[in-house]
Amino acid sequence: MLQGKKILLGITGSIAAYKAATLTRLLIKEGAEVKIVMTNAAKEFVTPLSLSTLSKQPVLTDLSENDSWANHVMLGRWADIMLIAPASCNTIAKMAGGICDNLLLAVYLSATCPVAIAPAMDEDMWLHSTTRNNLKKISDAGNLLIPVGNGELASGLIGEGRMAEPEDILKWLNLFFSDSQPLHGKNALVTAGPTFEAIDPVRFIGNHSSGKMGVAIAEELANRGANVTLVLGPTNISVKQGIQVLSVTTAAEMYEACDLIFPTCHIAVMCAAVADYTPVQVADQKIKKKEEPITVSLTPTRDILKSLGQKKKLGQVLVGFALETQNEKENAIKKLTSKNADLIVLNSLNDKGAGFGYDTNKITIFDKAGGELNFDTRPKKELAKEIVNSIIHTLHAQI
Ligand code: CTP
Repeated sequence: MLQGKKILLGITGSIAAYKAATLTRLLIKEGAEVKIVMTNAAKEFVTPLSLSTLSKQPVLTDLSENDSWANHVMLGRWADIMLIAPASCNTIAKMAGGICDNLLLAVYLSATCPVAIAPAMDEDMWLHSTTRNNLKKISDAGNLLIPVGNGELASGLIGEGRMAEPEDILKWLNLFFSDSQPLHGKNALVTAGPTFEAIDPVRFIGNHSSGKMGVAIAEELANRGANVTLVLGPTNISVKQGIQVLSVTTAAEMYEACDLIFPTCHIAVMCAAVADYTPVQVADQKIKKKEEPITVSLTPTRDILKSLGQKKKLGQVLVGFALETQNEKENAIKKLTSKNADLIVLNSLNDKGAGFGYDTNKITIFDKAGGELNFDTRPKKELAKEIVNSIIHTLHAQI
């Protein structure tokens, strides 16, 4: 389960930091990629040299070193999970308060991946009401707590607060990835963004699609374990690592890419705003301005969703989008049938905060059984989770 997983291990100042060396060795043995960020206090308990040798990567401590800046934002984006083990009482308090006075905390505050902590401290500190409040705060913020053990503590007392053993942390991670990765081993194809159809060497027919919704879906599918290929039309949007991006410009290029990839896919989501028409002829030279009106003859492009719908086999889930300005529900349901999709996601240009360019959208998901799920205007990233939930549901119903 941990093969190829990217684990960002944060180590803080606690006697349990020595166990981080065993944990690193176990993670590497399981096939995980491990990058380590440690606090200065942690260096008192375990050396960066041991950890960099075990992880085969440089260990980072400072926000800047030798005139180079540690990119804390990219570290949090690189990782599949950030695991802070041991998490000292001090670091937990800083996490709860949003304090950012070292690299580890800067990475934590900018991490887009899930964050898990394995606390380590003496029992009295562990049971102190301030620590309880801090733990509640950070777990309410969506962070995951790996249970502490009960046993001999650094003080010599016996009680609660020992960091979980490295073997138990490994089991926890395996469970985490199997639960949170229901699409592990599935291949997914997503299209996003606009297409540009050239009229002459300097002009084209395009549209205002930003690609945000499609990229959010691609990222969510990847978060749930799928191998994702994103066929992306011309946009400036950035895509998280781990997704294979095929950049295309025209509807014909998008068609070719999808046609090639679809047979090996379990999931295909056609979110791109594909041009319906393309110029019959592309002028070799820039068309010169004239006094009289000109006509550009257009011919229909191939409908990618419809074509994939015709080739779809059992075990493949095909999702289309419908962008409507009138008779929305009726038109969306028509597209579900005419394109042989399993799900159609309707978004309407009539809704405020929905459609091209916005970070939010308002959608309804229709399925073939007549089901309809309505969502209020919400961030595209949140709606991507709902769309992926529906995809997983449909995939399971087919098996
Ligand atoms: N689509 C496609 N290939 C095309 C045109 C559209 O794959 N050449 C897909 C879109 O990605 C979307 C769905 O078809 O998933 C519906 O797109 P939409 O623009 O809403 O509808 P059209 O089929 O183009 O029909 P109309 O413009 O008449 O509404």
